[in-house]
Amino acid sequence: AHYLIMNGPNLNRLGLREPNVYGRETLEDLEHKLIAFADRNSIEVDFLQSNSEGALIDALHEAEGIYEGIVFNPGAYTHYSYAIRDAVASISVPVIEVHISHVYAREEFRHTSVIAPVADGQISGLGFQGYELALLALIEKIRGNHH
Ligand code: DQA
Repeated sequence: AHYLIMNGPNLNRLGLREPNVYGRETLEDLEHKLIAFADRNSIEVDFLQSNSEGALIDALHEAEGIYEGIVFNPGAYTHYSYAIRDAVASISVPVIEVHISHVYAREEFRHTSVIAPVADGQISGLGFQGYELALLALIEKIRGNHH
């Protein structure tokens, strides 16, 4: 099975950006970890990072029929992009929202996700491990569907 890992705005700055909040590991480090996780679990993963709302929306649309699931960190778009929310709602591919930091322990504006109500689940505050846990949930979901 084939999964898409999507990272939104500013996540290309991982490792450099606010290391006290997001840690010192880079996006490349994250991708290497997820490739190793994919190998252990006999799945395939593709990666997409974009700082642009439209590119993220296009990628969501194009995922239909291609991927079994999407792990999505929409960055700050999480908190206000109705366009990305509608794109998630428009596809049948399951989407799990992931945040590296614990958004509910941070500024008030980060406590709202406009994406979460149309996602299949949300993980916040577990660092890079959140992406692996989201993938695991998607894998289990697919296996469940086949029984
Ligand atoms: C984030 C949390 C968002 O509030 C923030 O805008 C990000 C990263 C996270 O992974 O913790 O860019 O999605």
